[in-house]
Amino acid sequence: EKENGDLFSKSFQDIISTLPKGNSWGFPDPLLQYHGFWHSSVFLQGILSAQQQFQAQPADIILCSAPKTGTTWLKSLTYATITRTSYDDSTSPLLSKMPHDVVPFMELDHAHFSTHRHLGIPVLATHIPYSALPKSVIDSVCKIVYICSDPKDSFVSLYLFLSKYQKSQNMQTFNLDEAFEQFCQGVCCYGPYWDHVLEFWTASLEHPDKILFLKYEEMSDDTILYVQRLAEFIGCPFSSEEEEKGVPEKIVKMCSFENLSNLEVNKNGKHRVGGTENAHYFRKGKVGDWENWLTPEMAARLDQITMQKLSGSGLTL
Ligand code: A3P
Repeated sequence: EKENGDLFSKSFQDIISTLPKGNSWGFPDPLLQYHGFWHSSVFLQGILSAQQQFQAQPADIILCSAPKTGTTWLKSLTYATITRTSYDDSTSPLLSKMPHDVVPFMELDHAHFSTHRHLGIPVLATHIPYSALPKSVIDSVCKIVYICSDPKDSFVSLYLFLSKYQKSQNMQTFNLDEAFEQFCQGVCCYGPYWDHVLEFWTASLEHPDKILFLKYEEMSDDTILYVQRLAEFIGCPFSSEEEEKGVPEKIVKMCSFENLSNLEVNKNGKHRVGGTENAHYFRKGKVGDWENWLTPEMAARLDQITMQKLSGSGLTL
């Protein structure tokens, strides 16, 4: 195993030495461009490892997203929905563990279950672009749920998340204007953002039974409706008895920003990978908060890029 690991690192070093390098957003290492998308070297290593080793099973549910688009929320809702016969809103592991510790992340946790999957429940999450997903995910009948959000909110959320992390590590924080410029040019973790969204959008139109495409804003508007859709899509629809008992409502309430962000684990705990404070994953949870951070000119520029990039796709963000 160790020898395999060493060989893998060597070939990884060979691969990354050939890749185009981009801005680092204030981190020590530049982002690397691999098949059209930008990645930090740690995540890229995870992506290549997942591509080589991850074996999807038919019952798997893969939660996909670009960073800072509602991943934490989607993880909680999916986990709570799928485990609802084992736990309720007073016993769920979501009350004592942060959502990222309940649903594993393919790029970081993958090595642990490549041979013994150890997935307590068959749900895992990834930020890998559609075109770079492990082949077994595409070939298997497993389900994919994708969430995206308004790029303006997503950019602000990403910038503030990384700034908080940099502060917590006593690093100098990256400048907002410079980050904005990089984001517009597509140079951000798992960017260009629009390409990430478009790949999943197109695939969801081609394979509607395999990919459920969700928008954070629509989910915020009517979360109960979307949880019902989600449950149906992943093959565990709510029975009429459950609906009468208000089970979907209870799940939505338990997974709400207000509830999760006020739990002790999410207020004061630290994420097992990299020691990020759990609280950083729960900032504000409000659609349209970009207004407090972007000038009207910045917003107009992002909207313009979004319109151009999505034109003809049938998708609006
Ligand atoms: P803000 O930074 O705008 O507050 P991700 O989970 O993909 O990292 O996305 C992060 C965004 O989702 C953050 O947005 C965060 O506050 C919000 N979020 C986290 N948990 C949530 C929840 N339970 N319900 C709604 N939004 C949530």
